[in-house]
Amino acid sequence: VQCWGVVPAAGVGVRMLATRPKQYLEVAGASLLRHSLRALLACDDIRGIMVAVSPDDPRAAELAGLARVQTTPGGAQRADSVLAALHALQPLAADDDWVLVHDAARPCIDPADIRRLMVQVESSGSGALLAEPVVDTIKQVDSAGRVEKTLDRRHLWRAQTPQMFRLGELAGALAGARQAGVEVTDEASAMEWAGYPVMVVPGSSRNLKVTTPGDLEVAAFYLGGDAA
Ligand code: C5P
Repeated sequence: VQCWGVVPAAGVGVRMLATRPKQYLEVAGASLLRHSLRALLACDDIRGIMVAVSPDDPRAAELAGLARVQTTPGGAQRADSVLAALHALQPLAADDDWVLVHDAARPCIDPADIRRLMVQVESSGSGALLAEPVVDTIKQVDSAGRVEKTLDRRHLWRAQTPQMFRLGELAGALAGARQAGVEVTDEASAMEWAGYPVMVVPGSSRNLKVTTPGDLEVAAFYLGGDAA
């Protein structure tokens, strides 16, 4: 079996208050998307990477000429973009092949963490995601702002990407969950919904998802440059 990468990069990033989609914001000399791709490309075992991009976004052209990288039009939601990329991979890959899905908006991922996830998945045979234990005390709150209860954080993990599953199973789970109207904010939630076992592999807090302008400064610090 082979391993492929999928990068959803078709979002608009409204929370970033920027003039361009966040994956194209520059930090430490390259866009968030380029940093994310660089980390995946550092893993020689990844055969090729399918990037879901906004079809009308001229910036997607920055990817032309990158070895092992192809683009395909994304969709309205993150899950639609991932599904579109999986379908674009299907003619090249086998259903049993593994796919690593990684957000363009997580540029600080360490290739060593990607390799650790791959080793874990290949030895256990179960799909898995990078995640980190929750350190804060977490409150469940009603719509009026009243605390209902405190959750037991010993059982709570923050999901990150990459998330690694078999291509055919992931495509089926995402399509099924979308059709059933299930809210799917990551690949693992679709796999859980479909009844597959999903494991967590401890990741690093450096692997943040850039969502707000403040996150961009933190990413710039980790990547060793100034936010542009
Ligand atoms: O908005 P959020 O931070 O959850 O986006 C996570 C990733 O999913 C980003 O890399 C974004 O570009 C991507 N995305 C996508 N297609 C969408 C929405 C988000 O590829 N329709």
